[in-house]
Amino acid sequence: MEKEIIIKYRECRLADLDESERRVLDAAIEATDTAYAPYSNFHVGAALLMDDGKIVKGSNQENVAYPSGLCAERTALFSAGVSHSGMAVRTLAIVARNPEGKLVAALPCGACRQVMAEQQSRQGSPMRVICYCSDEKLLVFENIESLLPFGFDM
Ligand code: THU
Repeated sequence: MEKEIIIKYRECRLADLDESERRVLDAAIEATDTAYAPYSNFHVGAALLMDDGKIVKGSNQENVAYPSGLCAERTALFSAGVSHSGMAVRTLAIVARNPEGKLVAALPCGACRQVMAEQQSRQGSPMRVICYCSDEKLLVFENIESLLPFGFDM
């Protein structure tokens, strides 16, 4: 039997974001300054809008033993797991700066999507993800299924 998945997402401009979306995206942009990325020179920033309205930031943290480093999204999510234990993440925003310092597209890697999926499942409410591509193009996903259909579970 042939089946089909329809993935829904919103494409909008920076100017179209509402106040809370803009706040979490601005925090992600700020977080790029905290990236430790001497190997890739690719500075990724992530920020979470928590259920209580607080913001938690993350950035990529690299290591000379490359796989020991961690992506911005997981840094933010694991940090929130400690600082806001048990609290839902309403929105996650992601942005990156290329080696020239220009803001560029940042779509989350598969491992980060898997961690997002588990966070969403734990909290039992949808987590919105905003991916910055340019001022004219942002991708907004209302839940993690849109980013990771058929994610691993046991
Ligand atoms: N990176 C992230 O921070 N998030 C992703 O979703 C993919 C990649 C980081 C890891 C590494 O420090 C750099 O970007 C280049 O791969």
